[in-house]
Amino acid sequence: MAQGLRLVLFGPPGAGKGTQAQLLRDSLKVTHISSGDLFRHHLGQGTELGLRAKEYMNKGELVPDEVTIDIILDKILSVSDEEGFILDGFPRNPHQAEELEKALNGKSRNIDKVVHIEVSEPELLRRLGGRYVCRACQAPHALGEGEDAASKKCDQCCGELYQRDDDGPEAVKKRIEVYNKETMPVLGFYRERGVLADIPGDNTVEQVNKQVMEALGA
Ligand code: AP5
Repeated sequence: MAQGLRLVLFGPPGAGKGTQAQLLRDSLKVTHISSGDLFRHHLGQGTELGLRAKEYMNKGELVPDEVTIDIILDKILSVSDEEGFILDGFPRNPHQAEELEKALNGKSRNIDKVVHIEVSEPELLRRLGGRYVCRACQAPHALGEGEDAASKKCDQCCGELYQRDDDGPEAVKKRIEVYNKETMPVLGFYRERGVLADIPGDNTVEQVNKQVMEALGA
């Protein structure tokens, strides 16, 4: 039986990880695992985990590893070897990367590729300021100037669109700071393992998708 792709999409807040993950999920038929979506799902359900995560998310900080790692690894390990997965938002610090490697080594095969989508800070701020997310399926949408979210529905499932609490200017500033300080070192971890591909992400969604596919050799 063919082995499914094991991909990490890596990049700062607003780089387009979620957007690209949804395109790849549909074209490559692999499971998309987003740690942020998982926390937001729990929050929507009012679970203890969701409420705990919210304290950190709204401030733009990382949710502590003891809350994050087990729950994400459980999800990853539940995907069959044939199906494969795309990780979006995990791992987010070197400790998470080490724990992921340990868990996957237990399944005899590590991450195939880490695609790092690089986007300039002004573009990140522009994108996050205009992003609305579907409450039902979590698909991100970019609203143009003057467009009204209340009169627009999700392109994919017609769900209601809302603006994330952590997309306000203070939380975005903090998220970018946290990314630079705590998450960027993960790049070195994967560079050493020879699986890292850097691609420019300031281009259109379609151009970025083409570059991701090229990085995957697809
Ligand atoms: P998470 O949900 O993972 O957020 P993030 O990493 O900050 O990334 P975003 O979802 O904001 O951006 P994205 O790169 O997916 O961009 P998108 O495709 O939406 O994490 C949120 C929080 O959860 C964290 O701050 C933390 O508290 C917690 N958390 C999550 N994982 C954790 C972990 N492992 N450990 C600890 N804590 C964790 O695109 C953005 C916008 O741009 C959209 O409007 C989109 O339409 C548009 N767009 C996308 N691509 C393009 C393009 N090429 N051109 C123009 N517009 C584009």
